[in-house]
Amino acid sequence: MEAIVFDKVNKIFPSGEVAAENVSVRIRKGEFVFVIGRSGAGKSTFLKLACRQEEPTSGRIWINGQDLSALTKRELPYFRRQIGVMQPEFGLLDDRTLFDNVNLAMLATEQPRRAGRKRVAQMLKLMGIEKRADFYPREVSMGEAARALLARAIICGPSILLADEPTANLDPDTAWDMMYLMDELNRQGVTVVVASHNRELVSIMRKRVITMSAGCLVADEKNAVYNTRAADAMEERRILNERNNRKKAGRLSD
Ligand SMILES: Nc1ncnc2c1ncn2[C@@H]1O[C@H](COP(=O)(O)OP(=O)(O)OP(=O)(O)O)[C@@H](O)[C@H]1O
Ligand SMILES: [Mg+2]
Repeated sequence: MEAIVFDKVNKIFPSGEVAAENVSVRIRKGEFVFVIGRSGAGKSTFLKLACRQEEPTSGRIWINGQDLSALTKRELPYFRRQIGVMQPEFGLLDDRTLFDNVNLAMLATEQPRRAGRKRVAQMLKLMGIEKRADFYPREVSMGEAARALLARAIICGPSILLADEPTANLDPDTAWDMMYLMDELNRQGVTVVVASHNRELVSIMRKRVITMSAGCLVADEKNAVYNTRAADAMEERRILNERNNRKKAGRLSD
């Protein structure tokens, strides 16, 4: 079964920025995939489209067999529970302890409160931060905060984890700890998609690597090392140049 299917997906923002162009990709359940590419290549947009934070301008997306264009408002919360998300723009709340930060995600579900609190405690333990449960984000290390973010993302038992730069701002050791935790989740059957700039980490993990450039999916390799060829600036310029030429040609034929 496929966890994530993009079929000829385009995303053009009102500003005219092309964040996805004709992106087609299939990610099977249980896969571990890195999404790499230069800044502005469309990595975050890819993840946002997959969890329906953004909707495509055209093309279709299926998540766990569900056509996202057919999702109703009522179905959206149920859909969201299948997906754990880690994004730099959604950090921990400063005025809540790590426990409460993780518990917030639990409260959003209809679980009984006591069972919820028990699960939060288990999750903090699993992440190795149970001793930091009553600490506030400013009182813990970056690595501990990152673990709390991962705990929050997976507390509802999602079948898919989407992580946008989960190792940004982490020292190499802590970054490896995070990767280890995600790899463990993946071994337990969770489909994991990680957008990353971390060349060393991507290369050593030897997973499937999807490379984006100027909104286009330009490479998709198994057991890959960080691809400097496809991610490189020349490729990006070539795509932008062709896009410009098409635009000009379009205008001429109007
Ligand atoms: N909400 C938005 N409105 C307008 N343009 C946007 C929006 N979000 C992203 N873009 C544009 O879409 C393109 C892709 O952005 P995206 O954030 O997906 O890139 P990225 O690969 O994640 O980059 P980075 O490595 O810097 O995080 C960029 O040109 C960006 O400016
Ligand atoms: Mg990004």
